[in-house]
Amino acid sequence: MSSPAVPSASRRTVLRGAALAGAAGLGAAACTGGAGARGPAAPTAPVDLGAEGEVPVGGARLYREEKLVVAQPAKGEYKAFSAVCTHAGCVVDKVEDGKVRCPCHGSVFEAATGKVLQGPAGAPLPSVPVKADGGKLIAGPDA
Ligand code: FES
Repeated sequence: MSSPAVPSASRRTVLRGAALAGAAGLGAAACTGGAGARGPAAPTAPVDLGAEGEVPVGGARLYREEKLVVAQPAKGEYKAFSAVCTHAGCVVDKVEDGKVRCPCHGSVFEAATGKVLQGPAGAPLPSVPVKADGGKLIAGPDA
């Protein structure tokens, strides 16, 4: 003789599994959709980054506080990008060998162009105006 509790319990387990799968799906969607909703990824006023000599020629440097990456592909030619990862908004933590790395999910960007070299990020790091002025680097809207 079988007990009616057995089929009922297994049905509940199946339903709970479906609910968890649904919640996981929502979480992933929220993560992706939240990338643009964390305030400005780029400075809204000019930022003084200090001496221009701190960015190596042919390399790049991370300005963690200012959330900027500045590259100098050729002497005197500067390119700046937001250091806020376009995947889910983490600030990148490493610039080496011409590559910018995000610690959160492993995205890699090209330091000189901001383009994605490795996902999950799908969009390049946003470009930020930058100029050298009297030996100092200034990034932001009026640069
Ligand atoms: S936030 Fe996910 S890889 Fe950067």
